[in-house]
Amino acid sequence: MPAKVILGTQWGDEGKGKFTDLMADDAELVVRFQGGNNAGHTIVFGGNTFKLHLVPSGILRKNVTSVVGNGVVIDPAAFLKELDQLAEANVETGDLKISDRAHVIMPYHKTIDGLEEVVKGNLAAGTTKRGIGPCYSDKTARFGMRMCDLMDPEEFRHKLSVAYPLKSKYIQALDGDIGQTMEEIFDEYMALAERLKPYVCDTSVLINDALDQGKNILFEGAQGTHLDIDHGVYPYGTSSSTVTGGCLIGTGLGPKRLDKVVGVVKAYTSRVGTGPFPTELFDDLGEHIADKGGEFGTTTGRRRRVGWLDLVMVEYAVRVNGLDSIVITKSDVLAGLDEIKVATHYTQDGKDVHHFPASMPDVARCVPQYHTLAGWPDLTSEEWGAIASKGRDGLPEGLKAYITFIEANLKVPVDVVSYGPGREENIYL
Ligand code: GDP
Ligand code: IMO
Ligand code: MG
Repeated sequence: MPAKVILGTQWGDEGKGKFTDLMADDAELVVRFQGGNNAGHTIVFGGNTFKLHLVPSGILRKNVTSVVGNGVVIDPAAFLKELDQLAEANVETGDLKISDRAHVIMPYHKTIDGLEEVVKGNLAAGTTKRGIGPCYSDKTARFGMRMCDLMDPEEFRHKLSVAYPLKSKYIQALDGDIGQTMEEIFDEYMALAERLKPYVCDTSVLINDALDQGKNILFEGAQGTHLDIDHGVYPYGTSSSTVTGGCLIGTGLGPKRLDKVVGVVKAYTSRVGTGPFPTELFDDLGEHIADKGGEFGTTTGRRRRVGWLDLVMVEYAVRVNGLDSIVITKSDVLAGLDEIKVATHYTQDGKDVHHFPASMPDVARCVPQYHTLAGWPDLTSEEWGAIASKGRDGLPEGLKAYITFIEANLKVPVDVVSYGPGREENIYL
């Protein structure tokens, strides 16, 4: 399967980074296609923990060229800082590529992100304040700066001279201060451009040529299906297309070139940010799952909200992404519980609801209906390791039944179950 996409099926933080690193074993290119440094992907390998935000999760593999596609938004300073941190950890980043069509996050995008969140009140998503939304807004409104503009001082100055006075006035209207003169921004970004120059190219050509040569490519999603700008919990999601379609747009790839779509499903649900969350747990059990799962945001350190697995949400992800395969993460976190609940559908005003509603007030009114299954025992890492080689047959009965239940409901095979953050901590089914 030369071209595979791996993406999140819930609200992000499903463990995409871990799986991208794992599956990058036989890939030659690993490509990010959307989002920016709002993403936080944790990879645990060789006794080290790597936290990636913009750099694709194939970076730890020597066989891989990491590519940042045109659909990504890039904060140049944040990106270079990440490269410096990787260099300090002796990770080779020299052959990384960035699309010349990717949009650039400007300082005023970050200022506007913070100010707009305040104005929005209870419509605020609880953003990462990285300037993601305002950068995508400017892209769509055609005020944006692309990497190719950043590489061209004259064009960059011209575009900045149009955007700067507008942004300055807008920020003032929100009782803020743009904080820098236009010349200061220009000088800062030109210095960053110098360092970025060697990485910038037409990545669509690179990707399509690699496929022509029969190379394996992994496309790595950030965020999750329910944060997607069209398919997510609008307006509480993010501003990019996190779904399979976004992979095509965000890389310059034709639809017939994708061979396999893999969805990552956390064994329960987590959410960092605001908005309705039907299966959210507010009790001691929720505290226990959040603590055991280490549910703190990789990017902002915020505590994640947690709840039972919601198959209404995952069904939506199966449908809009066309999932071929599912991997389940964090089965070890639910281990040791007497019973496990899974939401199979909702009821709203006395009616059954089988498909995730569009309207946020509707989602807030939905009452999850649960199927209860037996739990599975808490195993040590060695005990998990010992059963891993036996595949499905070796799984504890409760976990096997849990997976069978998920497959029967979604009609998609579960091919891998992960039982720890490490690269090797997986059971292939
Ligand atoms: P991503 O944004 O989808 O890449 O996910 P994050 O990296 O933000 O969050 C997932 C967290 O769970 C990370 O800290 C991973 O190291 C960790 N993780 C991934 N798979 C497992 C697993 O099977 N068990 C446990 N205990 N942790 C896992
Ligand atoms: P990964 O790739 C979880 C959430 C924010 C907020 C909303 C909009 O690690 O799964 P933004 O800064 O994007 O404008 O914020 O989206 N959010 C994430 N939640 N994981 C992420 O990325 C996220 N990226 C954004 O909390 O609710
Ligand atoms: Mg994350």
